[in-house]
Order: sequence, then structure tokens, then C-alpha cells
Amino acid sequence: MERSAQEGKKDEINRTTANGNEKAVDSNSISKSFGSNTVLKDIDLHLKKNENLVVMGRSGSGKSVLLKCVVGLVTPDSGSLTVLGKDLQELEDHELNELRRKVGYLFQGGALYDAMTVRENMAFPLKRIPDRPSKSEIQDKVEEALDSVGLIESIDKMPSELSGGMKKRIALARTLILEPEIMLYDEPTTGLDIITSKEISNLMLEMQEKHGISSITVTHDLSCARITSNRICILRDGNFIAEGKYEELENSENKEVNSFFKN
Ligand SMILES: Nc1ncnc2c1ncn2[C@@H]1O[C@H](COP(=O)(O)OP(=O)(O)OP(=O)(O)O)[C@@H](O)[C@H]1O
Ligand SMILES: [Mg+2]
Repeated sequence: MERSAQEGKKDEINRTTANGNEKAVDSNSISKSFGSNTVLKDIDLHLKKNENLVVMGRSGSGKSVLLKCVVGLVTPDSGSLTVLGKDLQELEDHELNELRRKVGYLFQGGALYDAMTVRENMAFPLKRIPDRPSKSEIQDKVEEALDSVGLIESIDKMPSELSGGMKKRIALARTLILEPEIMLYDEPTTGLDIITSKEISNLMLEMQEKHGISSITVTHDLSCARITSNRICILRDGNFIAEGKYEELENSENKEVNSFFKN
């Protein structure tokens, strides 16, 4: 897709998200320390429905910890965190598991199981859910998801036979197979060449447009941030120091903020 067409689509989404007050993620003043290392300090994180939010920050600034809080893998020490209208602190284990199904998490370095074929990798999450679909339903879903990332022909391959970019696309398709309402992408394009990174970024945009998915993306990749973001937040010392659209932050007078936008 050309940049102008992308911008047009994003503006459209910005208008619709701006109209809705419904939040996919709503955190008030969450903090998290590991021993004496305070990683998150009073963070307010608001993700609107159907919004793509990008979080940038230096290595070790707490970006992955923030995503893990949203998916319930890390529990904040204080503050409140609501995901799809549910307060995470008040959920019983089974309710948390149910909610986690709606939150896809493409973790940093997200890998496939090397000993399984692509087909088995893809079917794996579906086999673990309580209302496990039938064999033929699983088959259909696996094929549909692989088709959506353009890799149906790889269905019977082993991960070792695939390139890094193909593995990433399949890992993404595997996350999407449970039809999440929110996607958390942790460095989705790291280690990929420019063209493959753009393909992944466009795929992420497509997930938002076609499936109405809201997302939080952690990335250092400027092209990925430009293509996918409706809004960007910059994390430093455990809190957001700036927030705005790509172009606004890129032209920010704050040197620290605009330094993220220089290669
Ligand atoms: N489970 C844990 N136990 C102890 N410390 C942790 C744990 N997880 C993260 N940390 C610490 O929290 C800080 C933030 O880590 P995090 O992984 O969120 O960084 P990041 O911003 O994602 O960095 P990068 O860009 O390198 O991925 C680091 O100092 C890390 O050592
Ligand atoms: Mg990280």
C-alpha cells in the first residue's frame, strides 16, 4: 500500500477511534518493581478500541514488562489495570485465562516449536482451549490463518526450512488464530530486512482494519512505527515522557523525544 493510502486509512481509523470512548486497556497509576529496581512508576496507559498504539523507549526501560502486565503475566504492585472492561486484580484464575484468549501476545523473539511442522505449530493453541474445536474445524482455521499471512504453501514444512521472516509471519498467524480483540506485539520486526519488516507492518495494519483489533506495539523500527501507529508513547524512567502522532513526536522540540526518530 502506498504511504498516502495508508495515511488515509489511518486517518479514517483515527476518526472512528476518536469518537468512541470505549477503552480496550485502561490503567491508572500502575507501578512495578523487581526488588530495588523500580521499572514502572505510576503509568497511565489508555488504549482505545481499534487503536494501534506504539510504545518506544530505550532498552531496559520497561516496555516488555508493561506488555506483560496487560496480558496478566506480571502483576503490578499498585494501581489499577482494566482490560476489555475487566479489572485484572478482581479476576479468578479461570476468568483471567478466558481474558487471555482475547489478548494475543507476540512475544519478543517469538519463535515456533522446532520439532513441530507449521501445521502442528498453528493447531497448538487451538488444542489447548477448553472448547476445543473439532479436527476439521482446526484444519479450516489453520488454513485460513496461514492464507491470511500468505504462507499456505508452507503448511507441511518444518520451521528449520523457513526464513526468519516466514517464521515471524507464521508466529503472528498462530497468535491470531484465537481471534484476539487486542494484540500485543513486542518487537515484531526485529532482525528482519526492510522489505520483510514492511510486510509485517502492513499485516499488522490489516489486522486492525479487517478484524478491528486494538494493539500495543513495542518497536525500535521507525518504519513499523510510522506504518502502524495511530499514536506513540515514549517510555523513560518508568513513565511516559511524551505522547502524540508520529509526525508530532518526530518534530518535537524535546531533543530526547525526537532522538528516537533519527536512524
Ligand atoms: N522477571 C523479572 N525479574 C526481575 N527483573 C526483571 C524481570 N523482568 C524484567 N526485569 C527488569 O525490568 C527492566 C525492564 O525490562 P524490560 O524487559 O521491560 O525492558 P525493555 O524495555 O523491554 O528492553 P528491551 O528493549 O531490551 O527489550 C530491566 O531492568 C529488567 O532487568
Ligand atoms: Mg523488551
